[in-house]
Amino acid sequence: MIEKYKNTYEKRWKKSSSENDDDILVFQNPENISQFFYLNYNKIINSIIDKKNNNDVLEIGCGRGTASLYLKTLNPSFNFDLMDFSENAIRIAKKNFQALKKDATFINSDIYKFKPKKTYDLIISLGVLEHIEDLDRIIKKMKSMLKKNGMMVHMIVPEKKSIQNYFNWFNKLFYHLSKEKKKEWLDKKTFSKTSDVFRSYMTSHEFLDKFTLQGFLHSSKIEVNPFPTFTNLPLNFEKMIVKVFKIILVFRKYLFLKKRPFECSEIFSRAHLIVAKK
Ligand SMILES: C[S@@+](CC[C@H](N)C(=O)[O-])C[C@H]1O[C@@H](n2cnc3c(N)ncnc32)[C@H](O)[C@@H]1O
Repeated sequence: MIEKYKNTYEKRWKKSSSENDDDILVFQNPENISQFFYLNYNKIINSIIDKKNNNDVLEIGCGRGTASLYLKTLNPSFNFDLMDFSENAIRIAKKNFQALKKDATFINSDIYKFKPKKTYDLIISLGVLEHIEDLDRIIKKMKSMLKKNGMMVHMIVPEKKSIQNYFNWFNKLFYHLSKEKKKEWLDKKTFSKTSDVFRSYMTSHEFLDKFTLQGFLHSSKIEVNPFPTFTNLPLNFEKMIVKVFKIILVFRKYLFLKKRPFECSEIFSRAHLIVAKK
């Protein structure tokens, strides 16, 4: 079963390379929706983590390596291990690190089989834990890989009602209007998520309970991303939408006095972060 999911990701990352979708890292001024989302996820994660020198960090399911590369650039003394079971993902992540002349260790392994050579101050993942079927086993394993006082931050995108539900019709319309059908790996219901892989239906509360039950000193959740994904849009239209998203964030920050304007209520959120301290 796991092998089947691996093949889905291999195809997805191979296609990303051929469609120039293999680097979405920006530090400011995002132009497309993926860049906008990841910049905001990365900013929140960077604002939460301990900034101790020489932190040993592991990213699980690193994909393009976007989050680790963002954190490495802002925290140069951190040591990064990036792990993914997709060889294509590891190849892309390596290429992205080389382009910015940053170093890291790349590990091609399945999280279920991974035998770490060291323990970590910080373990992160983005868009991975919702695809893990035996979550209790993996949370326990990750906890054993953490140093004392170590921390985990996981961005999780479960199957849930969110702002996306109001815009699926729009994505369907553009899918049929668009001549070149990009991102074939997206599911044909929302056009916002990877299809053909396991995705959890657990609520953010249920995810949090699983961490709490494993005996972390502290664990909490943060609901994030009140914006829908729009796919198959002409690039100029997508750039315009990103501008609107940015304006909404400014409004949320200054009009509604939100310190972290990407944070939102559970009804609208596309994702949540689980923060757990050992
Ligand atoms: C939705 S992608 C997210 C990629 C990246 N973290 C990002 O946010 O762009 C999920 C990633 O997790 C990896 N993955 C899924 N299951 C895995 C497993 N059991 N072991 C290692 N990597 C896994 C996939 O290959 C894929 O790169």
